Amino acid sequence: MRLKISSSSLVVTFLSIIVLVSLFDDVLAGRDFYKILGVSRSANLNQIKKAYRKLAKELHPDQNKEDPKAQEKFQDLAAAYEVLSDTEKRKIYDRHGEEGVQKNANMGDGQDPFESFFGDFFSFGGGGSREERNQRPKGGDVTMDLWVTLEEIFTGNFIEVVRYKPVARSDKGTRKCNCRMEMRTYQVGPGRFQMSQEQVCDECPNIKFVNEEKLLEIEIEPGMRDGHEYPFIAEGEPHIDGDAGDLKFIIRIEKHKRFERRNNDLYTNVTISLQDALNGFEMEIEHLDKHKVKVVREKITWPGATIKKKGEGLPKYENNNIKGDLYITFDIEFPKKELTKEQKELLRQIFEQDSKFKVYNGL
Ligand SMILES: *[C@@H]1O[C@H](CO)[C@@H](O)[C@H](O)[C@H]1NC(C)=O
Repeated sequence: MRLKISSSSLVVTFLSIIVLVSLFDDVLAGRDFYKILGVSRSANLNQIKKAYRKLAKELHPDQNKEDPKAQEKFQDLAAAYEVLSDTEKRKIYDRHGEEGVQKNANMGDGQDPFESFFGDFFSFGGGGSREERNQRPKGGDVTMDLWVTLEEIFTGNFIEVVRYKPVARSDKGTRKCNCRMEMRTYQVGPGRFQMSQEQVCDECPNIKFVNEEKLLEIEIEPGMRDGHEYPFIAEGEPHIDGDAGDLKFIIRIEKHKRFERRNNDLYTNVTISLQDALNGFEMEIEHLDKHKVKVVREKITWPGATIKKKGEGLPKYENNNIKGDLYITFDIEFPKKELTKEQKELLRQIFEQDSKFKVYNGL
């Protein structure tokens, strides 16, 4: 009797171990996408995108020709991004790991899970290779200016663009497709041939283009330069027999009211009173992200004097930890009111400036 109880509890324990192991197995199967992207499990979508864009730049095989594992690392990254940037897939991944995502994809609606991913994908300047690989015709490229503010360049931002993209859908009937010129030879008599070039086409199912709404997300990264190109592969004009062209955004920076950009340095002008110019002053300048830059000066400030605030410029695009400087140039507002005889005498005593009359100052 005693033996029986212990053996059945042994079975229960044994079973629960199996369940536990298989649970772990489920979670541990496949790659750790969070680790690959270097983000925490609670990271939000923007953090994931940011981490991805940064790593994609670093790990791109074109940049790492020496590393034999470059391709693999890049594919890991792409897979991690594909799953974690998709709310549904991420939920499944969190519960069942990579295997769970794959199982779910297999049961899915048969759509290519990579289609949308590669549609959004960055090109790294190797644009020619797509055409070299296949000689398919390609739709036109679309280039668009995207105007952003200097504030956005300072702090970074995500911009969403809704694009109405013509997408091919099947239609009734057939159409001629894959047309090409072919040489045909005819025998027109004994020993006599005639050659001619003819257009030969296949019959394909008919297609119509339907506008579909698509959300494109563009990350404005801190320090981006005016003219920066931001491509979306295959989001340009469609081609009925081939691939769509590319869509390219050109980042343009709007002129700012108070700040001027030169490389990563910022320039601004401030007008102070003559009194402050002489007595010194303390002031705060509101920066692009609204933080206050404190300027304290005890010495005399002359018109055109420039103060440099180190590290208050724009972050460098390649490395956001490096920052440019802020240059503040002062203009002096002179009082308009007349001085009395006594005040004038007082000023003479204070400044004791040599008032040699200068006809021409040499400037
Ligand atoms: C500051 O003043 C100079 C000289 O007038 C001008 O060239 C420059 O554009 C001004 N900068 C800003 C940011 O307004």
